[in-house]
Amino acid sequence: MARSILVVDDEASIIQSLDGVLSDEGFDVQNAGNGMEALEKIEDEIPDLVLLDIWMPDLDGIETLVKIKESHPHLQVVMMSGHGTIETAVKATKLGAYDFIEKPLSLEKVLLTIQNALEHKRLEEEISLLKEKGKHRITGTSEAIRDLKAQIRIVAPTNAWVLISGENGTGKELVAHTIHQLSRRSHKPMVEVNCAAIPEELIESELFGHEKGAFTGAGAMKRGKFDLAHEATLFLDEIGDMSLKAQSKTLRILQEQKFERVGGSKTIHVDVRVIAATNKDLEAEIEKGTFREDLYFRLNVIPIRVPPLRERAEDIPELLEEFTEEVSLNTSLPSKGFSEDAIRLLKRYHWPGNVRELKNLVERLVIMTSSDEIRPADIPPPFNQGEGSHGGPEASLEDFDTYREARAEFERVFIARKLREFNGNVSQTAEAIGIERSNLHKKIKAYGLDTGR
Ligand SMILES: Nc1ncnc2c1ncn2[C@@H]1O[C@H](COP(=O)(O)OP(=O)(O)OP(=O)(O)O)[C@@H](O)[C@H]1O
Ligand SMILES: [Mg+2]
Repeated sequence: MARSILVVDDEASIIQSLDGVLSDEGFDVQNAGNGMEALEKIEDEIPDLVLLDIWMPDLDGIETLVKIKESHPHLQVVMMSGHGTIETAVKATKLGAYDFIEKPLSLEKVLLTIQNALEHKRLEEEISLLKEKGKHRITGTSEAIRDLKAQIRIVAPTNAWVLISGENGTGKELVAHTIHQLSRRSHKPMVEVNCAAIPEELIESELFGHEKGAFTGAGAMKRGKFDLAHEATLFLDEIGDMSLKAQSKTLRILQEQKFERVGGSKTIHVDVRVIAATNKDLEAEIEKGTFREDLYFRLNVIPIRVPPLRERAEDIPELLEEFTEEVSLNTSLPSKGFSEDAIRLLKRYHWPGNVRELKNLVERLVIMTSSDEIRPADIPPPFNQGEGSHGGPEASLEDFDTYREARAEFERVFIARKLREFNGNVSQTAEAIGIERSNLHKKIKAYGLDTGR
């Protein structure tokens, strides 16, 4: 695809000659005679590079540069400066311009600078995509996770729309990123929209964009996320919170791959793959009349369910390892490990906030624990109270290798249960189970139990 260049200069002769030369070189050239016009053109379609004259009436090159960088920090801008404005040009590079070329223009220099700037941009994009790739890894080897990974491998290279469902913090966003990265669209970044975070009256303009003056406050034309995700992937997070109106427009794109901006009549064709996610039960939302059944069926062609953490407790040791390493890397604290019985304790908690909850706890423990091994006594409630009461898995006999471990576990579960029975009253519990109060206190502390008081 031809790279596009926007030439901004108030001198018609410069525009004309650059247009000729750059077009001959195979660039797609656009022009603007002043700063305002340049900003409008950029809003309309982001070029790969802007050649920007410094001295222009009204909005000068520097002011224009500042405005461009505000809304498009990664857009490459090369300044063109006449005699005596070199200082200004230097200032421009500090403000984010890639380089500057002196006037009168040497065409050789112009072409060389443009090539450099575009190459630089390409490398930057490559690096950020690589970083992005390294960031997302689904950890776990449980059957549930192996299943999930297998499904992802199958759907990723297709263009099929995907609906990801799962409880809070199970990794839905992570799954969406992974699908995008394994898809044929991964050379472009995934565009994300959190449907729950946008006020209902703005969601349409956010998704589809709006024309200038479409409503009060719509000063300039704005491209919507569907536009921006052309040839890439659009991630509609929390789709269950989308308004019915936005749902019906989204359904139309799904069917026809085209739409109009708010307040506009021009039909825009796009090639967008949508990945949607929700923690709601969409079938229940359909019953209530808040989610369109037809959209649900179109989206749900490929449903992916991300299993809650309590259904794959065997992944916990691996996740703990990954997160402790991550935290110590980020905080430069020494790496820590979890003792066997601490891991066993965490495996029995029911994790209503799933992997995110586990990650937050690890961060807290790595920072707060002074020894390099995290033990049951370091684990605060409610995380140390998994034992059956929340429907989490009970310890089973196979979990233990030694008599000592098995006995300790029995003791912990027994005391926790009795404590609950007596509402955390240590004296009453001690009396009821027939041990010394001080002895019970020691055990409560050792097992990190919560008396609820
Ligand atoms: N299998 C996994 N391996 C490694 N990290 C994971 C895994 N699952 C989730 N995470 C991490 O847990 C955190 C929460 O995941 P994510 O944001 O993808 O969840 P979500 O389902 O989108 O949550 P929400 O419902 O709150 O939007 C993130 O930091 C993510 O990187
Ligand atoms: Mg999410």
